[in-house]
Amino acid sequence: MSASINPFNLTAMNTLGLQSAAARVLHFTQLAQLAQWCADPELNHLPSLVLGGGSNLVMSEYIANNVIQVGLLGKRLAREDDTAWYVAAAAGEPWHPFVQWTLAQGWGGLENLSLIPGTVGAAPVQNIGAYGVEIKDVFEQLTAMHLKTGEQRVFTLADCQFAYRDSVFKQAEAGQWVITEVIFRLAKNHQTQTNYGDIERELALLNLGSTPSAVSQAVINVRQRKLPDPAQIGNAGSYFKNPIVSAAIHQQVLAKHPNVVAYALPDGQFKLAAGWLIEQAGWKGKRLGPVGMYEKQALVLVNHGGATAADVLALERAVQADVLAQFGVLLEAEPVKW
Ligand code: EPU
Repeated sequence: MSASINPFNLTAMNTLGLQSAAARVLHFTQLAQLAQWCADPELNHLPSLVLGGGSNLVMSEYIANNVIQVGLLGKRLAREDDTAWYVAAAAGEPWHPFVQWTLAQGWGGLENLSLIPGTVGAAPVQNIGAYGVEIKDVFEQLTAMHLKTGEQRVFTLADCQFAYRDSVFKQAEAGQWVITEVIFRLAKNHQTQTNYGDIERELALLNLGSTPSAVSQAVINVRQRKLPDPAQIGNAGSYFKNPIVSAAIHQQVLAKHPNVVAYALPDGQFKLAAGWLIEQAGWKGKRLGPVGMYEKQALVLVNHGGATAADVLALERAVQADVLAQFGVLLEAEPVKW
């Protein structure tokens, strides 16, 4: 394990590119190094910021807590039965190359989650999802180490308490565990899921059928058109969650705004498209200081250069206030704040 010089600059380690520094960054590549660190009372402060790709974070200018950077690598077929391939990946593996590797092996299931930034270990924390598929749909189990006790524990699907962009690792257990390995269950009878509007259209254009690899390519094309590449312009993907509202609230919004984009959920509630709400509130492509809402996807907050967390939070509040005033709906930010 390498401990950093104090203070450690984190600006290049968060995809929003916010100016940020931490008291201490610990980088590890071996599980034994992490275990050793967990056993050291001098180093062991909770909660700690566990850093994957830094793609779902709003980092403050100075982070006094320890920052732990997960450098565990490796991927393998853990086991196979008649129904599925169980594929294990170490937490530090970059997500998109891992997805591409599974597809190259002929194992479908992760194709809709192509091109999502970040690491394998970060993926379950927010239950990443796109184009109708979420991690929870392909999840078998994960292993994590408790930062205080060094206990290694397996979390099953039920243990993770997955919900829309949420898990136990963002709630009761936040900052307590380092996820070290995730196992995915990739079903042998997998059927690709292409019913998300943009994907069907893109697949028709590609004319490559609807194999997992073709769907992956369609997803990549759609994402590249709409979402800014963090290497070019700082962002953390969708900045707000799509709000879930009761049928009554949906009716109220619909009465005033017949064009509202909404999806009926099985439980009778409705998910509203936050990007649509933000666009209607006039924020698409609009800036506040060095930050703004992206011109091609209003749900994505972008850093035009030199921003700090305070700039991001000012824009978050301004957008929330305008959407609340116009629609009576409070948007909830998605990234984790440190
Ligand atoms: N829309 C607008 N204006 C906008 C943006 C969107 O009217 O500026 C409308 C679109 O026309 C569409 C609807 O809103 O009818 C939904 O838009 P889109 O398909 O782009 O998806 P989203 O709901 O905005 C969610 C996820 C994305 C994920 C896509 C595709 C959340 C918070 N975001 O976005 O996830 O890639 O669906 O599944 O659920 C992320 O979490 O970082 C992320 C990018």
